[in-house]
Amino acid sequence: MQNTITIAVVVGTTRVRRESIKPARYIADFARNLPGVAVIFVDPMDFNFPGDGNDPEGKDSRYTEIVRKADAFFIVTPEYNHSFPGSLKRMLDSELELYNHKPVAFAGTSSGNWGGVRAVESLLTAVRETGLVAISWDVYFPRVQEIFHADGSVKDEFREHYEHSLSKLFDELLLLARLFKTIR
Ligand SMILES: Cc1cc2nc3c(=O)[nH]c(=O)nc-3n(C[C@H](O)[C@H](O)[C@H](O)COP(=O)(O)O)c2cc1C
Repeated sequence: MQNTITIAVVVGTTRVRRESIKPARYIADFARNLPGVAVIFVDPMDFNFPGDGNDPEGKDSRYTEIVRKADAFFIVTPEYNHSFPGSLKRMLDSELELYNHKPVAFAGTSSGNWGGVRAVESLLTAVRETGLVAISWDVYFPRVQEIFHADGSVKDEFREHYEHSLSKLFDELLLLARLFKTIR
């Protein structure tokens, strides 16, 4: 539909035992419940990016189509050695112009206390060069392994915090997504 905003929710790692898949799925489900929003869940494990760069042979046409279709992005990145994973960078690098004038929000995750804040801070530098426009609110999942039940739902003691944070964040992301859509 013309007025529907399509959000690509990206999980930023291919690590087999990744905890980040839990907040990514939670955020995708949260967005699916918002009116006028369609969600595409983007898992770098589902794509094939041979070599580096954005030459035609270095792209995956399925990812290209998702980036073309998305009106906004929500990237969920773990912190690996104070930065974000190489697989996320490789996937983001495969496109360029299609990101232009689209807003992006971030979630950071970590097993420790800092919630991946250094990963998000370093990701900002790269993302700015792609043409994506970062919103000023992030959400963090420190001690991510303690936040979710096995079925993927958020434990009671964390629910209010994350529902409040995500409501505020999606208000801003959707506002910018609608605005940018009118000028693209
Ligand atoms: C290669 C590697 C490097 C890591 N470096 C950091 C780090 O610098 N800071 C941090 O808080 N956690 C670090 N961690 C732990 C992650 O925060 C932890 O695995 C968490 O669950 C999020 O990553 P995941 O989605 O891969 O599980 C690292 C994990 C890996 C696999």
